[in-house]
Amino acid sequence: MEQTFIAIKPDGVQRGLISEIVSRFERKGFKLVAIKVVVPSKEFAQKHYHDLKERPFFNGLCDFLSSGPVIAMVWEGEGVIKYGRKLIGATDPQKSEPGTIRGDLAVVVGRNIIHGSDGPETAKDEINLWFKPEDLHQFRYLIKSGMS
Ligand code: GTP
Ligand code: MG
Repeated sequence: MEQTFIAIKPDGVQRGLISEIVSRFERKGFKLVAIKVVVPSKEFAQKHYHDLKERPFFNGLCDFLSSGPVIAMVWEGEGVIKYGRKLIGATDPQKSEPGTIRGDLAVVVGRNIIHGSDGPETAKDEINLWFKPEDLHQFRYLIKSGMS
């Protein structure tokens, strides 16, 4: 089943938005198969955002991601990579639609509270970077509600 990497960035954690964000993915019907609290090193943040290393904001972005606890998660479900990005909203919260996480809860691009993988290859790479295979749990919901 399709999986994606989602992280609540230090600003989302500091603002007390963990449960709000987890809840949006959970209520949609996606399944949480791994979750942990991590304070990434700057080197780790640079690895995570390696495709942005030529951008002027790269250094500040990596400083910020490594500034405090991040909630690292793997969510699973049909279409979760693309739909996860839809739940998150546009990169710049000024352009995110109301109803999306960034549209409802963030104001500026440098503090947009959440990360989501942008495609199948990055999802695979990011899950491998942040988690060991044994951290991912396979289980079925025991109460039938249309989710598998
Ligand atoms: P992520 O899910 O965090 O990867 O965001 P994204 O995929 O919507 O955007 P992208 O990968 O292009 O950029 C990664 C992060 O860099 C964004 O989430 C922003 O926090 C930050 N960022 C992107 N563009 C800008 C910018 O123009 N200025 C600043 N200060 N930060 C930016
Ligand atoms: Mg991105």
